[in-house]
Amino acid sequence: MQTVTILGLETSCDETSVAVIRNGKLLSNIISSQIVHEQYGGVVPELASRAHQKLIVPVVNEAMAKAEVRKEELSAVAVAVGPGLMGSLLVGVNFGKAFAYGLGIPFIAVNHMEAHIYSNFIDDPVPQFPSMNLTVSGGHTQLVLLKDEFTYEIVGETKDDAAGEAFDKVAKMLNLGYPGGPQIDIYAKKGNPNAIKFPRPYATENDFHFSFSGIKTSVLYYLRDNKLRDTEIPEQLLADICASFQSSVVDVLVQKTIRAAQQYGVRDIAVAGGVSANSRLRDEMKKAAEKNGLQLFIPKFEYCTDNGAMIAEVGYRKYQRSIFSPINATAIANLEL
Ligand SMILES: Nc1ncnc2c1ncn2[C@@H]1O[C@H](COP(=O)(O)OP(=O)(O)OP(=O)(O)O)[C@@H](O)[C@H]1O
Ligand SMILES: [Mg+2]
Repeated sequence: MQTVTILGLETSCDETSVAVIRNGKLLSNIISSQIVHEQYGGVVPELASRAHQKLIVPVVNEAMAKAEVRKEELSAVAVAVGPGLMGSLLVGVNFGKAFAYGLGIPFIAVNHMEAHIYSNFIDDPVPQFPSMNLTVSGGHTQLVLLKDEFTYEIVGETKDDAAGEAFDKVAKMLNLGYPGGPQIDIYAKKGNPNAIKFPRPYATENDFHFSFSGIKTSVLYYLRDNKLRDTEIPEQLLADICASFQSSVVDVLVQKTIRAAQQYGVRDIAVAGGVSANSRLRDEMKKAAEKNGLQLFIPKFEYCTDNGAMIAEVGYRKYQRSIFSPINATAIANLEL
């Protein structure tokens, strides 16, 4: 068997991540999260690209060393070319193209959202085609029918905020820091999900679109009406707000995913993207899948948020089909699936 070794680079937002996959087996996946953004309560694009510029070489070296792979052994370099922040993407894309060109090996452009879907294919067992994929991250909320390898149909997406964005904005209102999703998850564990009734937009409608800005505004109104803005919220009430908000978002995500799977007649469902790290989403989706006779796939935590492994996985699959990209391929900030 020919040995295929792929280097995967991810720099689309605020994670500098590099992975090595050999013959489908992940050998390393180094993720360096930029902490510089915390003090600003969100990602500052210019600071993100400067940090990538500093980190890209050391992170590549670390990933290669951990995998015990020399650069002469690489078969191709795969890079996330979009969607994402332009300045951040350009660091990975330009480094990746130069590295591939210098080594005389193919360059493989990878769509970051496609890679999130393929994060469920890194470890066995993997979903069978066709599968229904919920991608929930900081910038996207999509239901995608994966008909066959690299053949997608977007069956629904958010009309306003992404689910992760709503988590981050609500966390900001509650002074929980950035990124807020993981903090809400932690506080929610001590709270009552039925304490406050926040809306569940479009939950019962027959299409597969989402809307999360209304839930976020309801939290804002709740805080305003109860004079809780810019004050120290009592611990139990804070936990109840987090649990109730989280349960609204999760209910909608679970109901729509199950209904989409049923309508499109698929057995395998998969969740990916940063919000798939959410403990309630993982638990509720598991219960609903079991109840409805569906097979659920959710990636390991380190493959939920941005990571090089998912880029290398898509690169490995494209390499086997000789899907390569020209050396003049470039970053596209609003690249679609
Ligand atoms: N446990 C959790 N519960 C809820 N949300 C979470 C959790 N962990 C991470 N998140 C959310 O995941 C998001 C980050 O995910 P990811 O890194 O995939 O997004 P992104 O790369 O910024 O966006 P995109 O992939 O759409 O370009 C953030 O909004 C973060 O709050
Ligand atoms: Mg992402």
